[in-house]
Amino acid sequence: MKISASFLSSKDVVRDLKKLNETNVDFIHVDIMDGKFVKKKTMPFREMKHIYKYTSKRLDVHLMVEDPIKYIPLYAGLNTEYITFHVEVGHDILDCLELIHAYSIKAGLALSPNTKVSSLVPYLPYVDMILIMSVEPGQGGQAFLPETKNKIEEVRTLLNEYHSSVIINIDGGITEVTKSECRMADILTAGSYIVEADDFQEQINRLR
Ligand code: DX5
Ligand code: ZN
Repeated sequence: MKISASFLSSKDVVRDLKKLNETNVDFIHVDIMDGKFVKKKTMPFREMKHIYKYTSKRLDVHLMVEDPIKYIPLYAGLNTEYITFHVEVGHDILDCLELIHAYSIKAGLALSPNTKVSSLVPYLPYVDMILIMSVEPGQGGQAFLPETKNKIEEVRTLLNEYHSSVIINIDGGITEVTKSECRMADILTAGSYIVEADDFQEQINRLR
């Protein structure tokens, strides 16, 4: 299992990014919030961009924003593997997927807990990853929603029907207990479970 580490709950982001460099974590998960799609707001890019020089890992960018098209060019200029935005934004989805690919970056679509899996169907040929939210987007440290297990199965079945090689990433409330609900996933994104512990590598090993 691949692991992506979110630093949303970090008390000291620079220290934690340096600690994560010393682990075998696969990606750094970057949560971006605009104060509109979700209530909270992350720092503007001009302040945030200094932080990324402290990580040697590839970035897995999660845009929780109303207007992804404005953010894609900013994050495309970093060491980015994936840029993911939410299917619930409901506009310019194909344009955003195309723009991400134009930067030779892999494109993800995220699904909030109350959104139907069928909403992904029109976009499946144009995405590389589905990010299934196992908590309501907007903050770290929430409990994993039990209905996620069925949702993962539903997405996996859909992908199989379409003979799709799209990968599944699960985000929110991931721990050594809830990981057992996510066996059909390819990547687990964990925040507080990793950054609130002393030994990051030990936590990562428990999730793999
Ligand atoms: C929630 C974010 C998640 C979150 C994960 O809105 O998208 O990435 O930071 O943090 P934990 O693992 O603490 O739920
Ligand atoms: Zn996230």
